[in-house]
Amino acid sequence: MSEQLLGEIEKLKTEHNAVILAHNYQPAEIQDLADFRGDSLGLSVKAAETDAEKIVFCGVRFMAETAAILSPQKTVLLPDKLAGCPLADMITAEQLRELKTKHPDAMVVCYVNSSAEVKAESDYCCTSANAVEVVNSLPKDKPIIFVPDQHLGRFVSERTGRELILWPGYCHVHVAITEQDIKNAKAKHPDAVVMAHPECTEPVKDLSDQLLSTGQMLRYAHKSDAKEFIIATEIGMIHALKKQNPQAEFIPATEKAVCPNMKRITLEKVFWSLQDMQYKVTVPQDIRTKAKKAIDRMVEILPR
Ligand code: 13P
Ligand code: SF4
Repeated sequence: MSEQLLGEIEKLKTEHNAVILAHNYQPAEIQDLADFRGDSLGLSVKAAETDAEKIVFCGVRFMAETAAILSPQKTVLLPDKLAGCPLADMITAEQLRELKTKHPDAMVVCYVNSSAEVKAESDYCCTSANAVEVVNSLPKDKPIIFVPDQHLGRFVSERTGRELILWPGYCHVHVAITEQDIKNAKAKHPDAVVMAHPECTEPVKDLSDQLLSTGQMLRYAHKSDAKEFIIATEIGMIHALKKQNPQAEFIPATEKAVCPNMKRITLEKVFWSLQDMQYKVTVPQDIRTKAKKAIDRMVEILPR
């Protein structure tokens, strides 16, 4: 059944001159089917570069919106219209405008996990892969508002030595990974390298060896001689890591770290998406023009 479905998807993809992009948290069969897999930054760059006319974005809404902002001439499809990101919904453009009036001199950096409207109110956008470099590129005398993820914000503040005005947003998947989870995993695997996403809480990050975006985790594991890794991020990463490094062992810090929104995408929905051209993600022109400035800066400032 799945073989037949995969064949149909392949056929529709060629017919429509479409490309399938998948985030590293996608279900294994979606990662395997995709033309490109990656982290938020890598996929944004890919979406901007591709010659394909249509992009099927296997991820969550803000990722598809970012692709639509970067490539308005392309059709961007999100196979499940309810695949959102609760972290991105934790700040509205209205709330950001209010915060800006309290800090009129501040520059605004928004995490890519935010709505297009919030991006339109921001000076710079960043992902977890380049947040440190983006903040480091800003004038030293300027206060900086960082929204919406407080945990990524604290990580950036520590790495750059700059005080940031934070918003109390968080990712429910990453904050569910506890200090005890890491201690338990380390007790069983004392030689393992602990890799954590910067969206994790501070006690979890304190117990970790490497704080990395999902794409950086893949690159780090590939170069490392270590045989075991404890992974403190969404569980989909385990498939991505194992596939690239079959010789190493990847232990999830907890099996609970599942993003239900990322798991909304299925093979059937990808098929329907291509068959019925659904669900088109578009961004109104006025919002798009403003948000694009912040996103262009994000794709220009690459991590070291
Ligand atoms: P990355 O940019 O590291 O892939 O992370 C995306 C995300 O949604 C983290 O929860
Ligand atoms: Fe959003 Fe968290 Fe899911 Fe990433 S893992 S898409 S931040 S809810």
